[in-house]
Amino acid sequence: MLEVKTRFDPAARAVAYHGDCRELLDQIASESIQLVVTSPPYNVGKAYEARMSLDRYLEEQAPVIAECVRVLAPGGSLCWQVGNYVEKGKASSIVPLDIALYPLFAAHGLKLRNRIVWHFEHGLHCTRRLSGRYETICWFTKGDDYHFDVDPIRVPQKYPGKKHFKGPKAGQYSCNPLGKNPGDVWIIPNVKSNHVEKTGHPCQFPVELVERLVLALTRPDEWVLDPYAGVGTTMAAAVRCGRRGAGAELVKEYADMAVDRIRAAASGNLRIRPRNTPVFDPADAGKSLTRSPWIEGDVKPI
Ligand SMILES: C[S@@+](CC[C@H](N)C(=O)[O-])C[C@H]1O[C@@H](n2cnc3c(N)ncnc32)[C@H](O)[C@@H]1O
Repeated sequence: MLEVKTRFDPAARAVAYHGDCRELLDQIASESIQLVVTSPPYNVGKAYEARMSLDRYLEEQAPVIAECVRVLAPGGSLCWQVGNYVEKGKASSIVPLDIALYPLFAAHGLKLRNRIVWHFEHGLHCTRRLSGRYETICWFTKGDDYHFDVDPIRVPQKYPGKKHFKGPKAGQYSCNPLGKNPGDVWIIPNVKSNHVEKTGHPCQFPVELVERLVLALTRPDEWVLDPYAGVGTTMAAAVRCGRRGAGAELVKEYADMAVDRIRAAASGNLRIRPRNTPVFDPADAGKSLTRSPWIEGDVKPI
C-alpha cells in the first residue's frame, strides 16, 4: 500500500497534510514544485467556508499565492480554478474571481498562458440571471521557458479520416493521428450526485480535469501541489499519472478521505470517470425521461 505522509517529505510519493495550507507551504523548499493546481474556497458560503468581504478575501489569498509562487520551480505552472464571488441579497452582483485575483499573480511576474473555461451542465438554477454553467482555470507559468506537452492530452479529431485533396500532400491524412489539441474550453461534467467520483465533499474536482493539467504540465516523478486539497483529487490524479502529489486540507474528514483516495489511486482502485468519456446525452436516457410533458398533456409550449 502506498505510504501517504502527513508532513512534506521530498522523497515521498504522496503527502496529505491535515491543517492550514500555510503550514504545509512552510515545509516545502523554494522552487521545488513543478505544478500547483487548486480550487481555493470561493467565499460563496459553502459548509467549509466563512463568508467575508471581497477585499478581505483577496487579502487572505495574497500570502498563500506568494508562498505558492515561492515553492514553484522555474518553468513550472500554477493553475488557479475559481468561479464568481456572489454578493448576498436581492441586489447581488457577481464578481469573476479570476479577474479580481489576476493582479496578485501578475505582481509576482507570473505569465498567463490560458484562461481555460470549464463548462458543465449542473448547478444552481438562478431566477434573476442566467444560471452559471462555467468556471475558469487560469494557467500561469513561472518564466517563459516552461514545460508543455500537448500529446498526452490530445482529444479525438472531429474528422479523423479527412485527407488533403490537392497539393503535394494530396491523399495524405490532414489531421494529427494522435488527436487534436483540446483547446481552452473544457466540457467535463462537474461532480454532482450521480457522478461516479462523488464523495461527501460539496465541490470536488473531476479527476479528468486535474489529469489534463498534470499530464501536459509535468514530467514523471515531479511534484504537484494543491494547497486547498479537499478530498485529495489533485494528489490522486498526480499519483495515477506517476507524479508525486502533496496537499493540505483543514477539515479532518476531507483530509482522511484524501488519504483513502490517494491509496485507491495508487492501487488502481479509485473509481473515476475515464478521460474523454462522451458527455451524457439525454436522448439516450429513454423516452420516459426525455419526453416533453406538452407532447401528450395539456401544457402548450410557447
Ligand atoms: C473548493 S474546495 C477544494 C476541493 C478539491 N479541489 C477536491 O477535489 O476535493 C476548497 C477546500 O479548501 C479547504 N480549505 C479552506 N481553507 C483552507 C486552508 N487555509 N488550508 C487548507 N485547506 C483549506 C476547504 O475545507 C475545502 O475543502
